[in-house]
Amino acid sequence: MNELDALVESARAQFAQAATPADLENAKALFLGKAGRITELMKSLGALPVDEKKARGAAINQAKQAVEAALTDRRQALADAELQAQLRAEALDVTLSGRQRGHGGLHPVSLTLERIESIFGSMGFEVADGPEIESDWFNFTALNTPEDHPARSMHDTFYVEGGSDKAPNLLRTHTSPMQIRHAVQHVKRHRSMIDAGLQMPEIRVIAPGRTYRVDSDATHSPMFHQCEGLWVGENVSFKDLKYVFTDFCRTFFESDDLVLRFRPSFFPFTEPSAEIDIQFQQGPLAGRWLEVAGSGQVHPNVVRNMGLDPERYIGFAFGMGPDRLTMLRYGVNDLRLFFDGDVRFLAQFR
Ligand code: DAH
Repeated sequence: MNELDALVESARAQFAQAATPADLENAKALFLGKAGRITELMKSLGALPVDEKKARGAAINQAKQAVEAALTDRRQALADAELQAQLRAEALDVTLSGRQRGHGGLHPVSLTLERIESIFGSMGFEVADGPEIESDWFNFTALNTPEDHPARSMHDTFYVEGGSDKAPNLLRTHTSPMQIRHAVQHVKRHRSMIDAGLQMPEIRVIAPGRTYRVDSDATHSPMFHQCEGLWVGENVSFKDLKYVFTDFCRTFFESDDLVLRFRPSFFPFTEPSAEIDIQFQQGPLAGRWLEVAGSGQVHPNVVRNMGLDPERYIGFAFGMGPDRLTMLRYGVNDLRLFFDGDVRFLAQFR
């Protein structure tokens, strides 16, 4: 290797060792700077005889170009490396899963209430709402359950201020007071029609809501839900109750072969009265009778308290437990789970 080739090699090696642009500039100065080795060689040309000058000059020039090319390559390589390092540092891993926002959802009992409202709505029932703090009159007396009636003892509840000493206000023990409240409003709205002897539009309503009793175990909660139903007109019979309720249960549980049983019972506000049991033909509960509602033909005294003539108006009522329906629908065996507010439980119904 001649001296110039060795020089170029040495420049390449030094440039390669430069780890930063500043190092590289220092290395460049060693060869191309004012006192650099190439520059010195150029200067030495002047001392040569004319006939050698030309060939020597061309050789040095070639070496100079080779050093400059090596410098340019190394500059580019350092710039590339810096860019790569910067890209790496700023890299976003788009494959990481995002932070999720919690999803809200309706409570399972609310889902049931919506379902009940939509099914009865499709059968022409209105949806009514009423107070949870109720008077003794609407909760008991107007429903043919006078003060000393033994049926009251099954409805132990929470008494609150208001009302009279003898008949304080209370947290309603059932949604049945809505029968009276709604019917009275309905009758008031249609009073002139009724007085003129015209046919009053039928009362067809459901009233879902919260109810309260002093009761607490796996199937009873001090606060629970009920949904009242009432259909009163001039020609409404038990047959209609059976039809409507059977249709409702089959739709609610999406089971066409579900069977209903009307078991004779007693409620002060209906006569005759029946408890409604359902039986699934398939699934884990197949064959068992499960009570889902109380029902009956509205008692004449109750019809009277609605402001209607029991000789002319007749109908049926029912009261069911949406909590119970929710347990059956989802296979939940402890009612208290619905009201503990544990998100791990509730999130399953979203
Ligand atoms: N209110 C009754 C209860 O809570 C249930 C009930 C029975 C409602 C018969 C009715 C009915 O409307 O006709 O036990």
